[in-house]
Amino acid sequence: MSRLIDGKVISAAVKERVGGEVAALKAKGIMVGLAVIIVGDDPASKIYVANKKKACEALGIISEEYALPEDTTESELLDLIGRLNNEKRINGILCQLPLPPHLDEKLIINSISPEKDVDAFHPVNVGRIMIGDYDFVPCTPAGIMEMLKYENISPEGKSCVVIGRSNIVGKPMGMLLLHKNGTVTICHSKTKNLKEICLGADILVAAVGRAKFVTADMVKEGAVVIDVGMNRVDGKLYGDVDFDAVKEKASAITPVPGGVGPMTIAMLMQNTLTAAKKQNGIA
Ligand code: GUN
Repeated sequence: MSRLIDGKVISAAVKERVGGEVAALKAKGIMVGLAVIIVGDDPASKIYVANKKKACEALGIISEEYALPEDTTESELLDLIGRLNNEKRINGILCQLPLPPHLDEKLIINSISPEKDVDAFHPVNVGRIMIGDYDFVPCTPAGIMEMLKYENISPEGKSCVVIGRSNIVGKPMGMLLLHKNGTVTICHSKTKNLKEICLGADILVAAVGRAKFVTADMVKEGAVVIDVGMNRVDGKLYGDVDFDAVKEKASAITPVPGGVGPMTIAMLMQNTLTAAKKQNGIA
């Protein structure tokens, strides 16, 4: 039976720290502001954006929501981002993905000023992560690193296996583990011998997007298992890990819900604070 890595507890600790720093800045007359842009009516995106707004309010971060209609043109969206890039009161800009198909996601992300790119999706910030000189880290991998730190789990010298190679999770996750001296393998849909590779993992991160993909026979006794999955099946939320079976083998494991999910928003708050500090010449 493994130890539960509780994202609710750890995210609360991060938010408390961020909220304290936001209050200290406010006392010096510096307000922290985040602009969140959402285009269209995707129900999941609307929930994510509402949660981000709620978290901002709880921590004293000013949030401005720009809810744009589905038929917003590329130039309208670029105009808005251009204005927000130049607004002093806005420290961070987040454009909720996915965008409707007529909008070029790459072009939109590239138009956000790297100094305000709290998602860390801009190529400048991606490149900075690669060379290990970064201010912003994508929120999900950042949240996972925070969880490992809180639990005193060091990746150093460990075999770290990441399943999934997305730009948002898998690739940056691999880099962050590498920066902490982990020996990193990134697996994907074309990986051969996935089970054998996973069985070698001391730290296993599942970011696949398929419910209960990681089964107990893929997990080494005593491994640390991090589940990034958010798969809705018949209205119920499942992770990428077969939690009930895997928890009997792992030494520590994140649940779904209540694991990585809550960390993501906490790290967005952290990135927004970092942006405000940088823009005001602090730290
Ligand atoms: N859609 C799903 N996750 C994310 C995220 O972390 N940031 C943005 N901007 N969109 C998302």
